[in-house]
Amino acid sequence: MRKVCVIGWPVAHSRSPLIHNYWIETYGIADAEYVTFAVSPDGAGDTIRALRSFGFIGANVTVPHKETAFAALDRHDAVAKRLKAVNTIVTTAKGLEGRNTDGYGFIANLKDRAPLWKASAGPAAILGAGGAARAIAAALEDAGAPEIRIVNRTPSRAEALIRDLDLKSAKVCSMAEAARALENASLFVNTTTLGMKGESDVIVDLDLLPKSALVTDIVYTPLETGLLRRAREAGHEVVDGLGMLLHQAVPGFEAWFGVRPEVTGKLRKLVLADMAGK
Ligand code: ATR
Repeated sequence: MRKVCVIGWPVAHSRSPLIHNYWIETYGIADAEYVTFAVSPDGAGDTIRALRSFGFIGANVTVPHKETAFAALDRHDAVAKRLKAVNTIVTTAKGLEGRNTDGYGFIANLKDRAPLWKASAGPAAILGAGGAARAIAAALEDAGAPEIRIVNRTPSRAEALIRDLDLKSAKVCSMAEAARALENASLFVNTTTLGMKGESDVIVDLDLLPKSALVTDIVYTPLETGLLRRAREAGHEVVDGLGMLLHQAVPGFEAWFGVRPEVTGKLRKLVLADMAGK
């Protein structure tokens, strides 16, 4: 039996089992199973190190354990090392290795849904400076963004992000400067929880953002956030956040089961139906 889990606290809400079990079935992977594994913060590092003894060949790691997983493991790929956070664990010949596919998922989603957009086309403006913003900022720099502007309520966290990732061309902007941070940008992305069901919307004025700029959100409940609606109405191309969740799962599945799975409309519909039922 090849068992893989998603480790989180809480983790019952995770849609990773739905995605991976769909692929297990679609590709006819025999004797494979993907389950949730609720691990409390207390002793999470030990549990992660002992993953194999719990019967798992790999795992995804979600909130709040991504940094703990990084610290618990001895081996990492280059992206996890840079972010100091792990969302995917694979068994290699040398033992457990921590990887991070969040930034990959972000870029793959944009390539999928907005194939003409290019990171190199202009500065990228990122709202937020948490873990998701880190993964996205690093991925955008790697994809060729000429400048990255981090807009955050707490500017010191944005400064720490730039320092920790050693971003080559980056600026910090306060919320008061947010509208100006969009001037001549080619991308605006919300990485905060603003716009999620029950939260207030992103209220940044989009007037200075060029009409050719792409607007995207990592929030996917609702699929069209207030920000995406305003951007669409203003004539921007928009990409919702659901695809990031789907695409970040691809490299892990391939590493565990040896098949590179496809993100299809059918999978998207399956996850949307699951979201509608909850
Ligand atoms: P994650 O790791 O999931 O990205 P996080 O580390 O909690 O989450 O980061 C959340 C981000 O959303 C931060 O940038 C946070 O701003 P601060 O650094 O100032 O805390 C931002 N955020 C959350 N709620 C917000 C709000 N009401 N207004 C503005 N920014 C908010």
